[in-house]
Amino acid sequence: MSLLLDCDTGIDDALALIYLCSQPHVELVAVTSTPGNVDADQVARNNLALLELCGRPDVPVAVGARAPLRVPLVTTPDTHGPQGIGYAELPQARRTLEPSDAVDLWIEAARSRPGELTALLTAPLTNFALALRAEPRLPELLKGVVIMGGAFFYQGNTTPTAEWNTHVDPHAAAEVFAAFAGQPEDRLPIVCALETTERIEMHPEHLAALAEAAGCNEPELVRPGDAGGLRSRARNGLVRHVSDMLRFYFEFHRLYDQGYVAHVHDYFAATVAAGTTRFATRTATVHVETEAPRLVGTTVADFRGLWGEAPNARIVSENEPAAAFAEFVSSVGALARRLG
Ligand code: BDR
Ligand code: CA
Repeated sequence: MSLLLDCDTGIDDALALIYLCSQPHVELVAVTSTPGNVDADQVARNNLALLELCGRPDVPVAVGARAPLRVPLVTTPDTHGPQGIGYAELPQARRTLEPSDAVDLWIEAARSRPGELTALLTAPLTNFALALRAEPRLPELLKGVVIMGGAFFYQGNTTPTAEWNTHVDPHAAAEVFAAFAGQPEDRLPIVCALETTERIEMHPEHLAALAEAAGCNEPELVRPGDAGGLRSRARNGLVRHVSDMLRFYFEFHRLYDQGYVAHVHDYFAATVAAGTTRFATRTATVHVETEAPRLVGTTVADFRGLWGEAPNARIVSENEPAAAFAEFVSSVGALARRLG
């Protein structure tokens, strides 16, 4: 399994990246950085630092676009913290970025290994849209595409109807779905949208189980009654940083009346891309709204062919949250144990 990951790291992007590093059968061909949760340079700094934390300083990291295609960049420090990784303070990585642009890197990788690479996109689709403009054969060159984005017949998390990634760059999302229209079903992107990713609801108990699986001597207790902004004392570096990220994400979700939980959307998308989770999909034609002022970034799925247009996506319709967390705890727990 060889993956190209494009992310806007981001707490749940960070969990996705850490999880992929914990999977021995996953080759991370490159990690590219799109602006979204934080600006592109901060995303790249986070990616470099996380890869170093996970013992993977060999994976190339690059930056592409620094703003969405047609609208100004809006970031979300409220959701992910000023640096995108909650309360975690990662040491700066010792190495620097790849000199090449993320878009060129993707195209080169896809051309040199046709039919081998799976693309995982957990960010606004800016870089991917640019890559598709430059190489329209990408849908055929890639083995598969997994996207975290959208919300189908389900309320948005950014506006009443729009999900964050599609809202940040609606024009890019519209271009990407248009580029896949008419592809055979098994080449259509698999879309992990809010109605299934919000079911991947992490609780403090999952963190405690992770610390236990990592062999920590002390229980990792993050409690709803704690004063805001406490920091982990875990001696295991990976557990400590994950805990400091998640504490911030729990506090954010509680602020928005969702409880002391965290929706780890991008982690779920990573399990789909890595082939380590069970899920079902429904084929649909996806439209991304880019004009109507109150609906920008809203995604609509035609599951019944009422528009008479070719399908352009497979939308995840069922997933298994308990199994997804058991997988996270055992796989990331084993990595944390190895790293010490
Ligand atoms: C998406 O928005 C971002 O804030 C998360 O990282 C995830 O990719 C969820 O709507
Ligand atoms: Ca993300």
